[in-house]
Amino acid sequence: MQVIILPLAHDVALYAADRVAEVINSKTNPVLGLATGSTPIALYDELVARYQAKQVSFRQTISFNLDEYIGIADSHAQSYRTFMNQHLFDHIDIAKSNTHVPLAESKDAIVLKKSAQDFEASIQQAGGIDLQILGIGLNGHIGFNEPTSSFTSRTRIKTLSESTVIANKRFFKDGEYQPHLALTMGIGTILNSRAVLLIATGKAKAEAVKVMIEGPLSAMCPASALQLHETATIVLDEEAASMLALKEYYRWCEQKRQQLHEGNVR
Ligand code: GLP
Repeated sequence: MQVIILPLAHDVALYAADRVAEVINSKTNPVLGLATGSTPIALYDELVARYQAKQVSFRQTISFNLDEYIGIADSHAQSYRTFMNQHLFDHIDIAKSNTHVPLAESKDAIVLKKSAQDFEASIQQAGGIDLQILGIGLNGHIGFNEPTSSFTSRTRIKTLSESTVIANKRFFKDGEYQPHLALTMGIGTILNSRAVLLIATGKAKAEAVKVMIEGPLSAMCPASALQLHETATIVLDEEAASMLALKEYYRWCEQKRQQLHEGNVR
């Protein structure tokens, strides 16, 4: 894993935006994997700003989002489709028909299974994901792959853990229906992406980040599966990195990488 520690959350967003821009500027039909949650909002703001400054265009981009709540309409204020429209898609030149968020409005298991299969097929048809953006849950989940998710799982129905339901309660009004099920890309699906970039900021994520990077490979921390990915980059602010035992080593690695890049190895 490449672990990059930057001073502030804003620096993490800029780094991630650079990586996204690199992919969309270097490929004819770039395929992005996108995430929801509070963490990537600053990244999306930055991408919108770069689009407005004419530095990037999403005209040829195809996107796949990690997950969606089951049983609420796309138009629901808390659906991940709404989140993506509000934070990114409505403000850039991506064709909405090229944006894929799992279709999960139905509560019928057969319809949902078919939707999950179709989602996997669409990723294949698009040629696979070039860069998957990820956040991390407090319990180490990626997408909605909760602890004990199989490392080879594909897009499927997943029951949310109590900790996730509590963490996401803040987005729902008092008394409003809050889904306990989601349709999520599997860990196997995520690992098939050509590159993954996980961003984490703030003290609350420090424990999950430590277990993901320095803990054993374990289904108890779904994000630890990224240890198996050939090109996984983890970008952290100081707070999220605060519990890492090998923090100084990761900084040293980045220094050496930079020196190598500049032809200045010492
Ligand atoms: C949700 C999403 C995840 C996201 C996580 C963390 O549960 N399904 O993809 O990574 O929340 O969100 P936040 O960035 O708000 O901490």
